[in-house]
Amino acid sequence: MKDIIVIASGKGGTGKSTVAVGLGTVFANEGFRVLLIDCDSGMRGLDIMLGITQNLVFDIADAVSGSCTVENTVYPCPGKKGLFLMPAPLNAYDEIAPQVLGQLVEGVADLFDYVIIDSPAGVGSGFEAAAYPAMRALVVVNAEPTSVRGGQNVAGKLRSCGIEDIRLVINRFNKNTFRKMGLYQDLDEIIDITTLQLIGIIPEDYALAAAIQSGKSGDLSCPAMKTLSRISARLQGRLEPLLIK
Ligand SMILES: Nc1ncnc2c1ncn2[C@@H]1O[C@H](COP(=O)(O)OP(=O)(O)O)[C@@H](O)[C@H]1O
Ligand SMILES: [Mg+2]
Repeated sequence: MKDIIVIASGKGGTGKSTVAVGLGTVFANEGFRVLLIDCDSGMRGLDIMLGITQNLVFDIADAVSGSCTVENTVYPCPGKKGLFLMPAPLNAYDEIAPQVLGQLVEGVADLFDYVIIDSPAGVGSGFEAAAYPAMRALVVVNAEPTSVRGGQNVAGKLRSCGIEDIRLVINRFNKNTFRKMGLYQDLDEIIDITTLQLIGIIPEDYALAAAIQSGKSGDLSCPAMKTLSRISARLQGRLEPLLIK
């Protein structure tokens, strides 16, 4: 049974792409076939994070223009069994319309257990396209007011796109920084503002950032990847404690 999940945030730089690649890697390591779709037209980055930039010939825009088949835009990630990427158009003006992306995803979704769509920042047309095919959503925020407001806004937009199953991920969490900044009493305050159910708190973890930025997301031993494994379990309906260190 396939599941199509959009990763959104409203505000840029909260860690959507990092979460998309990390979660995709966890699912693939569990034996699932996973398609990551990069929807950040003109600003794509998942190919770097997956270490396959050199292999790319076609992207989503080529499938839309008819220069290639949809299958031609699906690339296996070397060394990551079960993980595939559909790259975003190189140029921002090649942004894909929501219904068109919906048709492309429909054409390949049955080949995969999970389709993870990495949304661009904002709630504009790129976000609308990314959300269109999705059955559920993860909203990624950092523990800062501007980011939390972005999460609140994007949650409302996701609901107006018909997506009801929306979970909150608090990313780059550092307990000491959180206390020192004193912006919130506790994490419940953030959860209440976003109106979303929490699915995981990913620690600030430079081992994860470095592994993913260098295209080596395979190492599951760092703390952030362990949290992503628990998020994966919760997405699959298994009860895992929300550990906060
Ligand atoms: N849990 C984390 N710990 C440390 N750095 C992180 C974490 N998640 C993301 N980052 C870093 O934050 C920056 C933005 O991440 P990225 O995934 O590109 O965000 P977005 O896709 O939302 O723009 C990158 O430098 C990335 O390495
Ligand atoms: Mg991104």
